[in-house]
Amino acid sequence: MSFSILGTGRGVPAYAMTNDELSTMVDTSDEWIVQRTGIKTRHICKEETMTDMCVKAAKEALEDAGITAEDLDLIICATLRGEYITPSQACVVQREIGAKCPAFDVNAACSGFVYAFDVADGFFARNRVEKVLVIGYDNLSNTMDWTDRSTCVLFGDGGGAVVLGKGDDLLSIHITAKGNPDVLYAPRGENLSPFAKEQRKPAIFMNGHEVYKFAVTSLVKGVRKAVKDAGLTMDDIDYVIPHQANMRIIEAAADKLGIPREKYICTIGEYGNTSAGCMPIALDVARREGKFKKGDIIVFCAFGGGLTSGSCVVRWAMD
Ligand code: UT7
Repeated sequence: MSFSILGTGRGVPAYAMTNDELSTMVDTSDEWIVQRTGIKTRHICKEETMTDMCVKAAKEALEDAGITAEDLDLIICATLRGEYITPSQACVVQREIGAKCPAFDVNAACSGFVYAFDVADGFFARNRVEKVLVIGYDNLSNTMDWTDRSTCVLFGDGGGAVVLGKGDDLLSIHITAKGNPDVLYAPRGENLSPFAKEQRKPAIFMNGHEVYKFAVTSLVKGVRKAVKDAGLTMDDIDYVIPHQANMRIIEAAADKLGIPREKYICTIGEYGNTSAGCMPIALDVARREGKFKKGDIIVFCAFGGGLTSGSCVVRWAMD
């Protein structure tokens, strides 16, 4: 027994910052950003908080699934940084939506949503749950260095949520980690210990080239493995929902995999890279555009800080 997706939702702040606006803050241009990444805007929290957006996504997903917060048996939030060190973001959302179930966070950076699916699958397999809320959300505007043009043009705030119920529509799942705190990392903020040897800026640092190579390789390997483990071939795939880090990464992986580019759901132009929030945003956008029909085969694939990766094959269960 695994799960089926019963409902989706998303929470994205209202303010869409254009590349031209960013060009007034750092030495960059709309032309460079669009050509190198495909990003046109990213949404940034101004009035809203991360919790507001997670709660919005959660409520939409609950409504879509036709259940209430009291029906939930578990909440998992995939995020690399909640509003607090403790409580977890999942606990904060639990209170706001009025749920009574256990709640915790999973940190696998941009791969977090797939990691959370795998954790949820374990709870279903052990018959511990009937309804699970999985949120994928990151608020990177508070974690990036707004003076570093090599990172600040890439990221945005936002995420989404799904309600999972008992079912058999998770056809395969595969997660990996290759510990590496050198090529992509964000230190914690101020160290309060009187014995602290150094203070490090809590911003994202990245070797773009190294991450790019890891990204293409892990997407291709991950999708091949997940599709094979599901007993399918590339021809059986109806849609691919990739992590939205760079349009060129998605296109390079698409060409190697031989799944036509039009099957990839891409929201990077509007939202940029929202880390664990990317895939649930893309899922909800496509669902609300009416793209999916019951029985469609969808591949999720992600890579990110850790370095982690995750891919899975899901059969669409909703009408
Ligand atoms: O979620 C997972 C985390 N991140 C990723 O997956 C990112 C993976 N990496 C990438 O997407 C790409 O490597 C980047 C988009 C980060 C960079 O693209 P690139 O084609 O690898 O550019 P580059 O680093 O080779 O830089 C080319 C030039 C450099 O100038 P010079 O040395 O050729 O004179 C950079 O200084 O572009 C310059 N540059 C910029 N110019 C304008 C770097 N950032 C910018 C910028 N605007 N924002």
